[in-house]
Amino acid sequence: MEIINNIVDLKTTLKKHFNNKSIGFVPTMGALHEGHLSLINQARQNNDIVVVSIFVNPTQFLANEDLDKYPKKDQSDKKICQLAKVDYLFMPDINTMYEKDEILIKAPKAKGFILEGEKRPGHFDGMLQIVLKLFNIVNPTNAYFGKKDAQQLSLINQMVKNLYLDINIVECDIVRELDGLAMSSRNIYLTKPQREQSLYISKSLKNAAKSIGAGQLNCKILIGQIQDILKEQKMQIEYIKIVNRDFKLIDNIQIKNSIILIAVRVGSTRLIDNIWI
Ligand code: PAJ
Repeated sequence: MEIINNIVDLKTTLKKHFNNKSIGFVPTMGALHEGHLSLINQARQNNDIVVVSIFVNPTQFLANEDLDKYPKKDQSDKKICQLAKVDYLFMPDINTMYEKDEILIKAPKAKGFILEGEKRPGHFDGMLQIVLKLFNIVNPTNAYFGKKDAQQLSLINQMVKNLYLDINIVECDIVRELDGLAMSSRNIYLTKPQREQSLYISKSLKNAAKSIGAGQLNCKILIGQIQDILKEQKMQIEYIKIVNRDFKLIDNIQIKNSIILIAVRVGSTRLIDNIWI
């Protein structure tokens, strides 16, 4: 595995050696866990060349968010990538990725400013900005994203469509801890009692899926059931919403076209999870 910090080096390396070969790309912010690894493994299985990027992108963090304390694990991340047979690990610094006054990408008004976009205004603008930059640097055949960040994934799909990018986006399933908690780099912030409390997020989603299986398709009722479980745990709920795959709020579950999304705060840690129905 080669570690590259410089855009020109990465571009020329990829161009020189690998014309006509498929490139699988996994963008990340590091502190890699099994969720990231599942994306990397899928990229490894289906491409000639695998590129992973690690860059904690400041433009997608709000002023009051955890940019400064976002977990950094460069050494173990390098090891994980090496063991997963990544070919190129791209680890740029901020000056490599950004100039002072740049052309900006704006998330679409509806999909970009509800749910996560409403709670974190500007987050998706910064996320799309960096993903487009990375796409242009790596020029991947396939790019891998997790369903864990469902709205991010949907916006990236829309960017690919709206800007006519010639990239196949691969949607990867959520990887969970054995007890059901969705893996996240932020889980390490949780104390033991908070970690136990957090379990009820996935439990409530699973319970909703069970209700749907038993014929309950009314979103208001399903949201109420989830709310009861989370409230009993005294969880600070940011939102519980049900949307179709195009991120429009729906009144009734449409099987194979619905996503139930939850965002909560456990202590000062913000956690999101979802289930695709
Ligand atoms: P990060 O949070 O590091 O996530 C990188 C990728 O891993 C995303 O596609 C995310 O959805 C996926 N992922 C995270 N946890 C997962 C899990 N438990 N199961 C499956 N996939 C999981 O998302 C970002 O970074 C950034 O916004 C980025 C796209 C890199 C742009 O800066």
